[in-house]
Amino acid sequence: MQISSATKQNTFADDVLRGLSATPKFLSSKYFYDDEGSRLFQQIMNLPEYYLTKAEFEIFSNQTGEIYESFTKQNETFNLIELGAGDGSKTSLLVDYFLKHNARFTYVPIDISAEALHFLTKKFKVQFPKLSIQTEQGDYFQTLKTFQRKNDKRKIVLFLGSNIGNFSQEQACNFFCQLRAAMNETDLLFVGFDLQKDPRTILRAYDDSQGVTAAFNLNLLTRINRELGANFNTQDFSHYAGYHPIEAAARSFLISRKSQTVRIESLEKSFEFAAWEPIFMEISQKYNLAMINELADASGFQVAKNFYDSRNFYTNSLWKII
Ligand SMILES: C[S@@+](CC[C@H](N)C(=O)[O-])C[C@H]1O[C@@H](n2cnc3c(N)ncnc32)[C@H](O)[C@@H]1O
Repeated sequence: MQISSATKQNTFADDVLRGLSATPKFLSSKYFYDDEGSRLFQQIMNLPEYYLTKAEFEIFSNQTGEIYESFTKQNETFNLIELGAGDGSKTSLLVDYFLKHNARFTYVPIDISAEALHFLTKKFKVQFPKLSIQTEQGDYFQTLKTFQRKNDKRKIVLFLGSNIGNFSQEQACNFFCQLRAAMNETDLLFVGFDLQKDPRTILRAYDDSQGVTAAFNLNLLTRINRELGANFNTQDFSHYAGYHPIEAAARSFLISRKSQTVRIESLEKSFEFAAWEPIFMEISQKYNLAMINELADASGFQVAKNFYDSRNFYTNSLWKII
């Protein structure tokens, strides 16, 4: 589904208005990934502290055969649908293996970021000239309509990179219930969950020593300046990350370093920030196995198999329909 740029712009503007008018203020992390945001996220994935990508990469590299076996039935055709595909770097390991084993499938990467999809398509067309690929731009929730149109073949849905962590547990359950309603009996869901571990290890992943995560968060203010005509001075905000072990959630904030007023022309509105007032940017919920089983059960799925990395930092959980 293609969304016109006017609709996209309105949604972005509406969401910024809603977030900066709320108490406490917030901005949606789904808007992080413009050109610069996608570039910075690729840098984050290569940081020594960012264990998540390495763990999922290890699972996909070492257990590709087992994943393939659990996905496919002989000779059937299927749609490999990826929600929030980003640069598809880990998925490319699966795609490569699937093609080498003559699997017959169409890859459907879905992402809200046109820039991310453009980059992914360019890369995959060079890397896999024979791959059938159909990109879809839009929010996860809107793209559920796509699912109804893909009923001709079995669907294998990928939701990787701990993207589910960016939902609260309640939002995650609601999202999977909606997804379940759009899936058929033999479809499968493959979800990447970041597992609970030493809180210090988790915190470092969201507060790296080179300041790339800080730049990634601040870039959203630059995007608002460019696309909505705002006058945020990024030097007047600083990035702050914390991990709460009881809630098992990391949260990122941008903190206003002084009392200030920011004008957003396209909203015809000014926003007041008190000194040290936070803007909530992102939640990264961490899971344990009981939470994963409970979430699957509550949303109409059953865990078929969990794939782990060698440190048990992360799991890719394969879910079937109950
Ligand atoms: C953390 S990156 C992960 C990318 C990839 N799944 C991976 O594992 O490397 C999140 C991706 O999801 C996309 N995204 C975030 N929220 C979204 C939403 N609500 N709807 C569609 N895409 C979304 C972003 O644009 C970004 O490309």
